[in-house]
Amino acid sequence: MSGASHFVEVRNLSRRFDVSKPWLNRLIEGGGRRYVEAVRDVSFDVDKGETFALVGESGSGKSTVARMLVGLMSPDRGSVTIDGTSITGEASRSEQRALRRRMQMIFQDPYASLNPRWRVGRIIAEPMLALKVVPSSADAASETARLLTLVGMSAGDMRRYPHEFSGGQRQRIAIARALAARAEFIVCDEPTSALDVSVQAQILNLMRDLQQELGLTYVLISHNLAVVRHMAGRIGVMHAGRLVEVQPARQLFVSPQHDYTRMLIGSVPQMSSAMRRASSTRGAPCP
Ligand SMILES: Nc1ncnc2c1ncn2[C@@H]1O[C@H](COP(=O)(O)OP(=O)(O)O)[C@@H](O)[C@H]1O
Ligand SMILES: [Mg+2]
Repeated sequence: MSGASHFVEVRNLSRRFDVSKPWLNRLIEGGGRRYVEAVRDVSFDVDKGETFALVGESGSGKSTVARMLVGLMSPDRGSVTIDGTSITGEASRSEQRALRRRMQMIFQDPYASLNPRWRVGRIIAEPMLALKVVPSSADAASETARLLTLVGMSAGDMRRYPHEFSGGQRQRIAIARALAARAEFIVCDEPTSALDVSVQAQILNLMRDLQQELGLTYVLISHNLAVVRHMAGRIGVMHAGRLVEVQPARQLFVSPQHDYTRMLIGSVPQMSSAMRRASSTRGAPCP
């Protein structure tokens, strides 16, 4: 693993969860502790400006990897290094804080990740003010207006509440908030899985446009290969906590190495043609 360094370096990540019954139940009913090996020895790199996808069925460990990538959870073993700074180990607290600002996570359910009692303007301005990326609240307001426009909403939406928007619009708001923190590395965990197929394509197109404009680096997580197919440079396939194969996206469909990957590909066709139709109606080029 020596040689040139990558923007994101993930090495031998492992994490298990204790899913034992409570102590008293174990005592009375018998039986020992039980563990789920959620992530086992996962290593990969992501280059700046790249989209690296993680696919795999539900329970394969994708979200656990995502949480460890952005420092929301610490691994039992292994390391995550971003732009030369370890988020899992030795870096100083101020270094880690500086690093946290540069990475954000986008979740499947944008409603759960947006404070329902705050207006959209406050939701987007809050990280800017907290992280002091703008000097004043007036600057935060004008920056919020700019970001809303950037994600295809209008500046006037600042005055509205999350419940007044559709799922797709809420995901746009969540993306604007991630950008408000000046994130460079965004981990998107099933960002479109709760959305209608036509809206999925719009959000994915938006993500791709923003990537090109801002040079963002993505880890895109989905249980659905069709979603990542046109987004990712490389795709990693997760199965039962392990990364069983990593290939350039195009190559993966031509020569999958693992039986499990073949099975995932077998479940794609109808979905991918629906996605292609939906995205071509917007006139965006599809590689
Ligand atoms: N906080 C937790 N406590 C106990 N088990 C967990 C926890 N989080 C995840 N798991 C288990 O770890 C495994 C991987 O989960 P997850 O990373 O959420 O997979 P995915 O995102 O691919 O669906 C699953 O078996 C899940 O039940
Ligand atoms: Mg998940």
